Amino acid sequence: MDRRHFITLVGGGVVMAAGLEGCAEVPDATVAWVSPGSSERDVRRYALAHAILAPNPHNRQPWLARLEGEDAVTLFIDRSRLLPATDPFSRQIVIGCGAFLELLAIAAGAKGHTATVTAFPDGQPADRLDERPFARVVFTRGGALDPLFRNILRRRTTREPYDTARAIPAADLAAVGAAVGPGLRTGAAAGGQALAALKTLARDAYRREVDTPAANQETIDLMRIGDRQIAAHRDGLFLRGPGIEAMRVVGILTPENLARPGTIAFKQARAFADPLCEATAAFLWIVSPGNDRAVQIASGRAYARMALEATARGIAIQPMSQALQEYPQMAPFFARMDRLTAVGPGERLQMLVRAGYAADVPPAPRKGLQDLFRSA
Ligand SMILES: Cc1cc2nc3c(=O)[nH]c(=O)nc-3n(C[C@H](O)[C@H](O)[C@H](O)COP(=O)(O)O)c2cc1C
Repeated sequence: MDRRHFITLVGGGVVMAAGLEGCAEVPDATVAWVSPGSSERDVRRYALAHAILAPNPHNRQPWLARLEGEDAVTLFIDRSRLLPATDPFSRQIVIGCGAFLELLAIAAGAKGHTATVTAFPDGQPADRLDERPFARVVFTRGGALDPLFRNILRRRTTREPYDTARAIPAADLAAVGAAVGPGLRTGAAAGGQALAALKTLARDAYRREVDTPAANQETIDLMRIGDRQIAAHRDGLFLRGPGIEAMRVVGILTPENLARPGTIAFKQARAFADPLCEATAAFLWIVSPGNDRAVQIASGRAYARMALEATARGIAIQPMSQALQEYPQMAPFFARMDRLTAVGPGERLQMLVRAGYAADVPPAPRKGLQDLFRSA
């Protein structure tokens, strides 16, 4: 399998063809994307069936729900699904929970309800998450259809090189930024020095992550290789297709090799972001005032809206979070990224995404609605 083929497949952006394992026998890990909640009579369950489709770091899907009374839901973070190496303060996990809440609210609107969200109703945890809920949501009758609703099922994280011949019109870029709403600041770089510098920094930060054993291992532990593993877990990052299968079967692509510098698997994983960063039409980012848990939830809600607006406009996006991460080996990249995105005193860069045009990719796996109701 040639290098490009592996690189294209790493991260699960492309399904080249049916896997060698024989897809017919392997359950589809993406059924959650098909008519979510269509058989549900309870608006809360309908909205939750959409919320689980939210973008979230490493596709950990760290959420749990408890239905209460006739009209409320309390939401918890499953602390067995955190990312301690790459997300030591669980900032990104909370952003993912914010995205979940935004999709929940949008889907409630589509059913003529308003979802009133109280983030961290029992108080905010500090650096470590605890058992307190991340939100309580009350559903009431009367609510408007948000035009972004129709993009929920089409939204993807697109880990592909984008069309380098096609710039994103300034008006579209502005609209995607504006979708974030009030209270947060967005920025964009769509050309010149600013774009070039971000491409290089995002690429180098990605390499640094792979070179950091604990961070790399966290990703490897969540790498689902082949259809059987994908179906068994329905979470994490996935690698599939005949090339991946061939590399797995002959022992080139194994978790051990991904962790071992010098192997083909390690080198290709380390180079994964190179062609992606290069083929990027623009970077967009979201900056918050402060960085408490409520702000992280707001940033996640904003990111969900940004992603849905991009989808509406046919713009592919992929977060590039490495340089935003808080572990010590990333510190020099973090500082440079703050400078490039003009983060001011007291502000926090919450999301950085690459954007451009690409062919459609299939949806990422999801656990089922029922998994939300298990206990942590
Ligand atoms: C806070 C946050 C950080 C993320 N960082 C990255 C990233 O660095 N690289 C990447 O490819 N995807 C990143 N993602 C996207 C997730 O991996 C993606 O949402 C998840 O795998 C589910 O796939 P989907 O968005 O296609 O449904 C991030 C998402 C969130 C919410």
